[in-house]
Amino acid sequence: MHIDRYERWWIYLAAGLLGVFGIALAFSSAVLGIRLPGIEEQFLPTAAAGDYDVEQGWVRELAPGRYEVNMRARVWSFEPNEIRVPVGSTVTFYVHSDDVIHGMKIQNTTVSMMVLPGEVARATYTFTEPGEYLFMCHEYCGAGHHFMSGRVIVEAL
Ligand code: CUA
Repeated sequence: MHIDRYERWWIYLAAGLLGVFGIALAFSSAVLGIRLPGIEEQFLPTAAAGDYDVEQGWVRELAPGRYEVNMRARVWSFEPNEIRVPVGSTVTFYVHSDDVIHGMKIQNTTVSMMVLPGEVARATYTFTEPGEYLFMCHEYCGAGHHFMSGRVIVEAL
């Protein structure tokens, strides 16, 4: 079959780009630990009865340097919207929604979740650098969507 020279170049270019994208994907998931929010990070509240307890407070210290945050998302705020942990802490976030679909993304971390009504989204991250980490809702949820944010304050020891 005859393929025109320019056509062949385009085929090579397209195949090359696919290869580059494939390498970028493999690098970001294997080396940088970046993942798309997946179904394995969500589970029904009943299955998490032992983990999820609003009455015990939003932020719980399980052990030195080990925290658990039970977070509520609703139009248009997070509770809590300010979390303080010492640097080096490993924090597991459990986020549920009281109303519609929200998102929860923490700036400069690998935490990015969809928060679906009826499920609890879960993500764990170790904060190795002190500073303020903005988190925000990244699923459009109505008129006040862009107000829906908070911050994790990682304090130097
Ligand atoms: Cu909640 Cu957008």
